[in-house]
Amino acid sequence: MDKYNRRKFLSYSLKGAAGLAAISLVPFGVNKIFNNNGMMYGNDSSGLPFSGGTPLPVPPLLKNMSSIPSKAKFQLSAQIAKTEFIEGKETDTYGYNGNYLGPVIRVRKGDEVSIKVKNNLNEETTVHWHGLEVDGENDGGPHSRIRPGETWNPKFTVTQPASTLWFHPHLLHKTGEQVYKGLAGLFYVDDDVSDNLKLPNEYGVNDIPLVIQDKKLDANGRFEYRLGMHDVMMGLQGGTILVNGAVNPYLEVPRGKMRFRLLNGSNARIYELLFSNNQNFYQVASDGGLLEQPVEMTKLVLGPGERAEIIVDFSMFKDGDTVELTNQGTEFMKFMVTGNKQQDFNIPNQLTKIERIDSSKAVKTRKFIFQGMGSNVNINGQQMDMDRMDEYLTLNTTEIWEISNESTGMMGGMAHPFHAHGIQFQILDRDGKQPPANESGWKDTILVYPGENVRAIATFKYPGIFMYHCHILEHEDAGMMGQFKVE
Ligand code: C2O
Ligand code: CU
Ligand code: CU
Repeated sequence: MDKYNRRKFLSYSLKGAAGLAAISLVPFGVNKIFNNNGMMYGNDSSGLPFSGGTPLPVPPLLKNMSSIPSKAKFQLSAQIAKTEFIEGKETDTYGYNGNYLGPVIRVRKGDEVSIKVKNNLNEETTVHWHGLEVDGENDGGPHSRIRPGETWNPKFTVTQPASTLWFHPHLLHKTGEQVYKGLAGLFYVDDDVSDNLKLPNEYGVNDIPLVIQDKKLDANGRFEYRLGMHDVMMGLQGGTILVNGAVNPYLEVPRGKMRFRLLNGSNARIYELLFSNNQNFYQVASDGGLLEQPVEMTKLVLGPGERAEIIVDFSMFKDGDTVELTNQGTEFMKFMVTGNKQQDFNIPNQLTKIERIDSSKAVKTRKFIFQGMGSNVNINGQQMDMDRMDEYLTLNTTEIWEISNESTGMMGGMAHPFHAHGIQFQILDRDGKQPPANESGWKDTILVYPGENVRAIATFKYPGIFMYHCHILEHEDAGMMGQFKVE
């Protein structure tokens, strides 16, 4: 980081620290901001009443410019735009190849991928491929800055299984703001295993992405990235939930099974997703790909950065019925069931085979402790410093990472989503107990609750410099991040 920015950031942090003393007098219980899940939807006065009146936008698939099989070439441009979240009312946003959010990049396992990323913003940015197993040079972390007007051209071969990954900026101290303004997109990997499953997989038809984000949208449909004390503590959370950039969207669905790929693309909010009729659904994939078995559930918890693929069956509805997707009982998206009967899909009992990483192969157990609050959030007592390498690892070794959340404190603490770049983990245990079934596959983002201790295992197959951090973006930007070098 250049010295100027560092000074600016420090003075900002100090203001944060001063405010911290004051805010401790506020009765936190009222907002429930320190309960485990950080749930507070509906307490934010910026929340708009639910109407379900906007058709759900489905982001376009990004055109592959290569005609050679197994080679994929894409062009992305980060740009300045204006977007109407409320009809007739514009707000300043950023987008990739558009006004808000970005297209879906779709590749196959084995593809050689080249992406030209042009920065058409007036500030620096980076583009990070969240969940992608790739070397440090092509990962798009804070080291890979793209200056305004310049183009960055990462190249990599996709070696991991079918999955729903995503991309977003990762500029030091600016990730929260750039994501909030709209820079985020999905990155799909396909492979033969997922193709052969015959799950719904027609993009935009029966296989629909749902990028869930919350905003502090004012009555004029505007939002700005400004952090109040509460935001410095909890991360920026707003009372309006957007799906694919739309407020109160609806989607017409046939009387049959649909696949939804959910991304929590929010800066800080943890969602507890339920259908308004409490119906069940099946989770078939977690962050890094298919689960071995589908997991039946009625409630899905999704922390910032996490993804889940779910299959929802609408066949018991009648033509014209509606059902809502809710966060803790508050509706934010409506499904309108149409009379169309679609092809029936059977969810297989065995989706894929995941080879368990043998924990006796681990060469080391490394500890990461989340500590502090507000502008003091840190990992192992350290805040991010580009000039300090925190951890050194040996290429092609397996390690156990033990992540503890000590941010319990006087106010009950809060959950932090731990994320590391360039790898996919398998969770060994949570507080010594087996993780829930929907966390038994590949994970790159792991919610760690106050006082909890999670052990995860990974094999480090790519060299380079990578980040690990809390995926509450305001925590990351405040310094709850470190870097590791694999060589
Ligand atoms: Cu999704 Cu380091 O990021
Ligand atoms: Cu990442
Ligand atoms: Cu955090």
